[in-house]
Amino acid sequence: MTQNLTADDQKRAAAIKALDHILPGMRLGLGTGSTAAHFVRALGQRVREGLAVTAVATSEATAALAREFGITIVELNELRHLDLTVDGADELDGSLRLIKGGGGALLREKIVAVSSDRMIVIADESKLVGELGNFPLPVEIVPFGYRVTMERIADAAAAAGCAQNLITLRGGEKHPFRTDGGNFIADCDCSHIPHPEDLDTRLSFIPGVVENGLFLDLATVAIIGHTGGVKELPA
Ligand code: A5P
Repeated sequence: MTQNLTADDQKRAAAIKALDHILPGMRLGLGTGSTAAHFVRALGQRVREGLAVTAVATSEATAALAREFGITIVELNELRHLDLTVDGADELDGSLRLIKGGGGALLREKIVAVSSDRMIVIADESKLVGELGNFPLPVEIVPFGYRVTMERIADAAAAAGCAQNLITLRGGEKHPFRTDGGNFIADCDCSHIPHPEDLDTRLSFIPGVVENGLFLDLATVAIIGHTGGVKELPA
């Protein structure tokens, strides 16, 4: 049957499909963003029907939504180790490399993903790209000396062979966006990132960079909604 799912329908369909991977008793990481919110609501429905899970949220917004739906939220320090994280992405490529942080939660998202045995990324088909970089790469930076740090990020993007390296401070200098951790976000418009691993390494050496939005070797499965339904990668 031909369906014609909108982008939001695709996100919801991917989120609901991810429920197939949830088992009773699991310790879960809950992502941030509109797709992850669909998953939290769908999971909350299962919890109301009796499913027992414990979860760690990647943002204050996700924690509030999860509690509203009756999902038990605890600190990562309490669980230390998670079975599975389900989260959205701003971009992903065929190797399941991701750009995340469009919602500003990349630091907690990466801490939670790294603490999980598996990460499932859920997204609509617009997020699947041949090469990362069209979505500006979010980089979380400390406020002290942010202009200097942003210059170093631009240098790193150029050295890693990115097609361009246009940096903007999210929210602007007068009203900079603040993350849940009180930091700034520098968005680096690279156009194309031909060598994500190289860029990730270079960014990690810059003092003042807290974390960047490249999630490499973290996602194990992608569930992609498309106009006709959902598909999983790898197939
Ligand atoms: C939040 O910081 C991001 O990493 C989100 O996962 C990403 O922006 C995807 O958001 P949507 O699901 O709203 O597209």
